Amino acid sequence: MSTILVTGGTGTLGRPVCERLRADGHEVRVLSRHSPPYAVDLRQGGPLLDRAVDGVDAVVHCSNILRGDKEAARRAASIRRRAGVPHLLYISIVGVDRIPLGYYRNKYAVERMIRASGIPWTLLRTTQFHDLVLRLLQGLAKPPVMLLPKDVRDQPLEVTEAAARLAELAARPPAGRVEDMGGPEILTFTELAHAWLRATGRRRRLVEVPLPGRVYQGLRHGRHLAPERAVGRVTFEEFLARRLGP
Ligand SMILES: NC(=O)c1ccc[n+]([C@@H]2O[C@H](COP(=O)([O-])OP(=O)(O)OC[C@H]3O[C@@H](n4cnc5c(N)ncnc54)[C@H](OP(=O)(O)O)[C@@H]3O)[C@@H](O)[C@H]2O)c1
Repeated sequence: MSTILVTGGTGTLGRPVCERLRADGHEVRVLSRHSPPYAVDLRQGGPLLDRAVDGVDAVVHCSNILRGDKEAARRAASIRRRAGVPHLLYISIVGVDRIPLGYYRNKYAVERMIRASGIPWTLLRTTQFHDLVLRLLQGLAKPPVMLLPKDVRDQPLEVTEAAARLAELAARPPAGRVEDMGGPEILTFTELAHAWLRATGRRRRLVEVPLPGRVYQGLRHGRHLAPERAVGRVTFEEFLARRLGP
């Protein structure tokens, strides 16, 4: 049995990571801004962070810091280095190095920081989780006409499958960058929207809109996809049936 710290352990990914680690018999410490006894804002650090990393066998870094992620990673890495953390696992996104989105650039910078930190590390990149695609579609469906990015596809992945993989990796020695993980199907946003409309019984007119810019170009070329690593099993339709079903 190991002691494993999960940062962002209350989030979409962090929660099932903690559940899986506990089911596998590990002792889990959960860190987030609102989860005592390790209620830490990683952008600020502090003595609780030192205490959280003290004596752990691994840190699974699942927090999602929208602003200040690089600074938080730098601070956390220096504490982990001082504390001699034997294994740091980082979850990243397929295409962070290929799509010039600000959030992706930050994540890619954090990846590079971890590689250079001197802490033994494992890095897993995945495609988007079903939950994120669902939230996107719910947002796009607010007006009566759903405007969808033309020719953009996605490969959503069941978050519990990503969590199981991370938990498995956390119990092994540091592995560097491991193989990417993608969902089982690649679907256009229009196909995803149809699936959501069918599952919810809603009606919306769908209009595909071409967008300008290099981010859109990257998405259109599928640089955020991992077709050769379509290892996830749960499809978006199955996810919707479970999430929205009776
Ligand atoms: N969503 C996706 O489709 C996807 C795909 C691939 C990779 N990822 C990566 O997976 C990771 C987790 O994403 P997620 O979707 O699970 O995020 P999420 O649901 O938004 O959860 C974020 C977690 O981070 C904690 N957190 C946020 N700011 C923090 C701070 N300043 N200090 C400490 N904890 C903080 C939150 O708890 P508090 O609010 O209590 O602090 C929460 O536990 C991210 O690195 C993301 O880039 C996500």
